Amino acid sequence: MRTALVVPAAGRGERLGAGRPKALVELDGRPLLVHALERAVASGVIDVIAVACPPGAVEHVRILLEGALPVEPLLVEGAGDRQASVWAALSALPADADVVLVHDAARCLTPPAVFADVVRAVRAGAAGVVPVLPVTDTVKRVRGGRVVETVDRAELQAVQTPQGFRTAVLRAVHDAARGAPATDDAGLLEAAGHRVHVVPGAEEAFKVTRPLDLVLARALLAAGNADPPVPEGGTDRER
Ligand code: CTP
Ligand code: MG
Repeated sequence: MRTALVVPAAGRGERLGAGRPKALVELDGRPLLVHALERAVASGVIDVIAVACPPGAVEHVRILLEGALPVEPLLVEGAGDRQASVWAALSALPADADVVLVHDAARCLTPPAVFADVVRAVRAGAAGVVPVLPVTDTVKRVRGGRVVETVDRAELQAVQTPQGFRTAVLRAVHDAARGAPATDDAGLLEAAGHRVHVVPGAEEAFKVTRPLDLVLARALLAAGNADPPVPEGGTDRER
């Protein structure tokens, strides 16, 4: 039984506007991608890694990651949208990985324990598992500039990554979708009628999307508050 990690890291980072692909933007002297991979590996549950790199940057990423991790990642070129990048990395995995996690490079401070929790839930029998946090804002449905409805917040959860799957199931739903867009990988399972389970997410697993998110990420690192890599075996969260 082997667990794979697929990391979509090929996005352009337009909303961040840093003038280079977001996964290569540095935080504390190291690219977001490296932070994300370090925390994933520190979970102690990852055996094999495939990264979807920004187009034209595979060699750059290879040099960047040389000797950085105990597991040498498989590197592939990403594609025009996230789903296609995930598919490209998924296709590069060896056949013997029965569980796969899909994790955004942009969620670069996700604590190692979240990876372990998601894998545990998949190994306990779920086809798909997503980490979630309660939505804290009031959410309203708006049409034509007018509020139509206030959505019952008690039922809403914000979804993060890593999302975990039985590899065969994720491959099958990606293949069947043939590029029809879903906002996340679990969405493809839901559309195909699979049950998706949840585990608690983490505030530190926020996605670096806009410049303000980088301010928060830097502050967390400076405060030593971003759950830096821990040795194998020390990953269980107390709840
Ligand atoms: N991603 C990818 N391939 C794409 C688009 C996105 O691998 N064609 C990855 C990003 O690198 C990121 C994750 O998917 O790790 C989540 O996407 P998002 O936060 O939207 O990143 P970007 O697409 O880079 O940002 P933007 O939408 O602002 O351009
Ligand atoms: Mg995007």
